[in-house]
Amino acid sequence: MSRGARPGERPGAALQWLVSRGYHTIIEPFRIHSVEPLRMTTADERRAAVEAAGYNVFGLHSSDVLIDLLTDSGTGAMSRDQWAAIQHGDESYAGSPSWYAFESAVKDLFAFGHVIPTHQGRAAEKIIFSVLGGPGKVVPNNTHFDTTRANVEATGAEAVDLVIAEGRDPATEHPFKGNMDLAALEDLLESRRGEVPVVFLTITNNSGGGQPVSLENIRATSALCRRFGVPLFLDACRFAENAWFIHEREAGQGDREVADIVREIASLADGMTMSAKKDPFANIGGWLALNDDEVAERCRTLLILTEGFPTYGGLAGRDLEAIAQGLREAVSHDYLRYRIRSTAYLGEALLAAGVPVVRPIGGHAVYLDARALAPHLDPLDYPGQALAVALYLEGGIRSCEIGSVMFGRQPDGSERPAAMELVRLAIPRRTYTQSHVDYVIEVVVERSRPARTR
Ligand code: F0G
Repeated sequence: MSRGARPGERPGAALQWLVSRGYHTIIEPFRIHSVEPLRMTTADERRAAVEAAGYNVFGLHSSDVLIDLLTDSGTGAMSRDQWAAIQHGDESYAGSPSWYAFESAVKDLFAFGHVIPTHQGRAAEKIIFSVLGGPGKVVPNNTHFDTTRANVEATGAEAVDLVIAEGRDPATEHPFKGNMDLAALEDLLESRRGEVPVVFLTITNNSGGGQPVSLENIRATSALCRRFGVPLFLDACRFAENAWFIHEREAGQGDREVADIVREIASLADGMTMSAKKDPFANIGGWLALNDDEVAERCRTLLILTEGFPTYGGLAGRDLEAIAQGLREAVSHDYLRYRIRSTAYLGEALLAAGVPVVRPIGGHAVYLDARALAPHLDPLDYPGQALAVALYLEGGIRSCEIGSVMFGRQPDGSERPAAMELVRLAIPRRTYTQSHVDYVIEVVVERSRPARTR
C-alpha cells in the first residue's frame, strides 16, 4: 500500500518510496470513485458487428467494444478535482474567471505571451498554418501527425519529416527516437532559406511510436532555428510524458521537477499547438500559444471566424476549468511514473512472449509490428487491418491500424505500401486497470501464435 503524497511532500514521493523499498509493482496512484460498466459480447455478436462496420473498427458502436485502445485522445478519466473544477465553470461570453484560470495554468508551464483557446489541437493547427503556410513554403517536423500534415498541405505548403534514422526503424533501440535530425534540418534551412516559416517539433513523436525528444535535441533545434531566424513551435500534446522520459533517461535531469523541465522546453520555443485531450486529461480542448504579437493578432482574427471569442475559443467555461486542473495533475511525478511504467508493462510482456513491437516502448501506446507478425500477407492485403479486426473478434479489443490502410492511398487514386504496418494499442489515461491490461496481453499473445498451434 502506498501512504500517498501528503501536502508539502515532494511530488512523486509515494511511488518513489515503493521503488526505494524494492517493490516492483507500480500501483495506480488513485482509487476508483465512479465506474462505467463494460459490456461483454459473444463471438457471434462481434462477428456481426465488425461485418456491419465494413471491417473498419472506426465504424463499430463503442458499446460493442470491451477494451477500447483506439486512441488516448479525449478518452482519459477525469479526476475528482477536475469534476469539482467543472462546477466553477463560468459561462460568461467574455472575460470569464474560467478563462483566466485556464490562461494562468497554461502560462505557468508555457510562458508564451499569447494564449489562444481552441476546441481541439487541429483547430490550432488550422489557424497557425493559415497564417504562416501557403504555396512555396516548407514546414519541417520530426514527424507530422496526420492532422498537422493535412493542415500544412491544405495551404499549399509542403510538410517534411526529419526524424533521426533510428526513429524510422521499429527494432532499433534508442532512448530518444523522436529526435530531430539536426544535420538534415540545417541543410533544409540553408537550401530553402526564406521558405521555411516555422519549424515544428512533436513531443512525443506520435506517428513514430510515441517516442520522446531529448532536451539536448530540443536545445540544439532551438539554437539552429534562432541562427536562421525561423520560429520553433512545439506540437506539445504529450509534453508531460516527453518530460518524464527526459527526467528518467537524460544525464543530469533526474533531480529536476518535471514542471521545470517543461518550462525550459517552452522557453526554447516561440510557440506551440496543443490538444488538451491528451496529457491534460480533458475530453475536449486545445490551444495555440505564441510570442509574436503581429502573428497572434492575425490568429485571433481567424479564431473569431470559426472558434469563438478569444477568451473561450471553441470551449465552454467548464472545459477551461477542467483543463486548468488537468494541467496541474499532468506533471505529477507519481502519475507519470505509473503512466510510463504501465505502458512499458504491456509492451514488455508482449516482447517477452515473442510478439514484435516497436522498441523501446513509447509513452502513450504500444505499437504491434503487423508486417513481422504476418509475413505471409502482402502489404496491400492490409496485415495491420487484419490484425486489428482479429483482436476485436478474439477479445473485443479495439486498436488502430497505422499502415497501408491509413497511408497507402495516393492522391492519384493508386495505392502504395506504407513504410511500416503497425497496429497501435493506445492507452487512455487512468482508465483501465492492470487486470484489463493483463487481459489485453493474453488476447494479443493468443492471436499472435501461428494458426497451427492454436
Ligand atoms: N498532434 C498530435 C501529435 C496528435 O497526436 C494529435 C491527435 C493532434 C496533433 C491533433 O489533436 O485530435 O485534438 O485535433 N491525435 C489523436 C490520436 C487523434 O489518436 O493520436 P486533436
